Amino acid sequence: MDVALPSSVGVDSPAKINLFLGVGPLRADGYHELATVFQALDMVDHVTAVADPGTAVQLEIAPGSGRVPKGGTNLALKAARLLKRKYKVKQGARLILSKSIPVAGGMAGGSTDAAAALVACNALWGLGLALDELSELGAELGSDVPFGLHGGTALGASRGEVLTPVLTTGTFVWVVATSFTSLSTPEVYATFDRLNATRDVPAPAVPRALLAALRRGDHEAVGTHLHNDLQAAAISMRPELDLLLEAGIDYGALGAMVSGSGPTCVFLAKDPEHAMELAVALSGTGLCRSAKIATGPVPGARITRAQD
Ligand code: C5P
Repeated sequence: MDVALPSSVGVDSPAKINLFLGVGPLRADGYHELATVFQALDMVDHVTAVADPGTAVQLEIAPGSGRVPKGGTNLALKAARLLKRKYKVKQGARLILSKSIPVAGGMAGGSTDAAAALVACNALWGLGLALDELSELGAELGSDVPFGLHGGTALGASRGEVLTPVLTTGTFVWVVATSFTSLSTPEVYATFDRLNATRDVPAPAVPRALLAALRRGDHEAVGTHLHNDLQAAAISMRPELDLLLEAGIDYGALGAMVSGSGPTCVFLAKDPEHAMELAVALSGTGLCRSAKIATGPVPGARITRAQD
C-alpha cells in the first residue's frame, strides 16, 4: 500500500430541501426541466472509506440506517465503482455507510451518499480530482448528486444538476417531519404528469422575491414564497400529508411544504425555541414518524476524519 495515502477517510454529507421546486414539461430524455432553490441541512449521512487489500469496492451498512439498498443499486457503492472504473483505480475500498437522512424521503439521501462516497474515495485513492470533476461524474448517478457536493443554498437548473450559488443571510431553522412510508421519485413525477395532462406546463422560474428574501435573511418572506410543484402529486398519493402541513401552519410555522418528491415535510420555524415547540406539537399529531430540528445552509460533502 502507498504510504502517502490515508488508510481511511470519513465524510459527512448533507440532506437537501427545495425551498422552491418549479417543474416544467417532461423532456425527451425522461427528465423534467426544473427551476429550483436547494438548501443543504445539518442532517447528515456519514460515509467512511477504508483501504482494502482486495481490489473490489464493498459496502457495509451501519446499524440503525433504515432500509437502505445493500447491493449494486446503492448509490454510494455505484459512485465508488464508477470512480474506480473511470480513473482505472487498482485499489479496492470498504465503504461504511451510516445514515440519518430518511430513505426515499425526498431529501436526496441516496444522492448525498453518492456525493460522500465520491469525496471519500477521491481522497482514499489519492486521485486529486476537483469538485467540478466529481460533480460531472455525480450527475451521471443522480440529478441531486452535484448539490450534495456543492451544499449551501443554490439555484438548480436543467434536471437539477446545473448549480449557481444563492446569497443568503443568517441561518434558517427547520422542522423536518419524516413519514411512516416512503415515496418513489419517478412515481411522483409520473403522477405530476397525469395531474397536468390536460394543460400546457409552462417553463418553470424561481421568483425573484424569494431570492431577495434569502439575501435579506427575511424569514417571514421566505416562508410565504416556499413552493413545490410536486406537492399536489405527493399529497394525492399520501393524503395525510395535507393534514400534517395544515397542523404545522396552525402551530405558527412561517411556511410548510412537502420536501422534493416527499413524503418528508418541512416547516420553517421563527427561531430555535419555536422549532422546539413545533417539533413537539407535530410529533403529538401522530401524523409523522419523527419531527427533527435541522438548520441550513451548511456545506456540501466534506472530509471530517482521515487516518494515515
Ligand atoms: O436523477 P434521479 O435518478 O434522481 O431521478 C430519478 C427519477 O426522477 C428520474 O428517473 C425521473 O423519473 C425523475 N426526475 C425527473 N426530472 C428531474 C429529476 C428526476 O423526471 N429533473
